[in-house]
Amino acid sequence: MYSEKVMDHFQNPRNMGEIEDASGVGTVGNAKCGDIMRIFLDIDDEGIVRDAKFKTFGCGAAVATSSMATEMVKGKTIQEALQVTNKAVMEALDGLPPVKVHCSLLAEEAIHAALWDYAEKHHIVIEGLQKPKNDISEGEEEEQY
Ligand code: FES
Repeated sequence: MYSEKVMDHFQNPRNMGEIEDASGVGTVGNAKCGDIMRIFLDIDDEGIVRDAKFKTFGCGAAVATSSMATEMVKGKTIQEALQVTNKAVMEALDGLPPVKVHCSLLAEEAIHAALWDYAEKHHIVIEGLQKPKNDISEGEEEEQY
C-alpha cells in the first residue's frame, strides 16, 4: 500500500522537533480526521530557509509528508519553498494511496502558514502566498475517510 520511501520517512522521520525562536511557525489541522501539523522555519537575512522542523500529531502519511516536505524546503529560497506543493512532496515519496492524498495537503499548508507567519513578523508580502487556512477540511467537499 505504501511506497518504501513513505515507510522510510514514517519510520525514520527527518527533522522532527521544533526550532526555538523560529522565523516562522505554521500550524494547520484537518478537523475531519483530527490531525494537526506544525512546521517551524528558520529563514536567514538572504531569505534562504536554513532549517525546517516539524511536529505532527497525525497519521503515518502525515508524518512521512512532513518529514519529506521539511527536507525539501531546506536550503531553498522563499519562492522556491512555495513551490514545494503537496504534489511535489507526493512525487518525492513515490506516491501515496488515494485516501491519503489529503494528508499531504497538511504539509503544503503548514509550510505556507509558516511563511505567512514569517512575512507578518517582517512586514513583508510574499508574492503568490495566500493566507493559509487553519483547517484544511474547510470548504472541502464531503469525503469518505
Ligand atoms: Fe488525517 Fe492523514 S492527515 S488521516
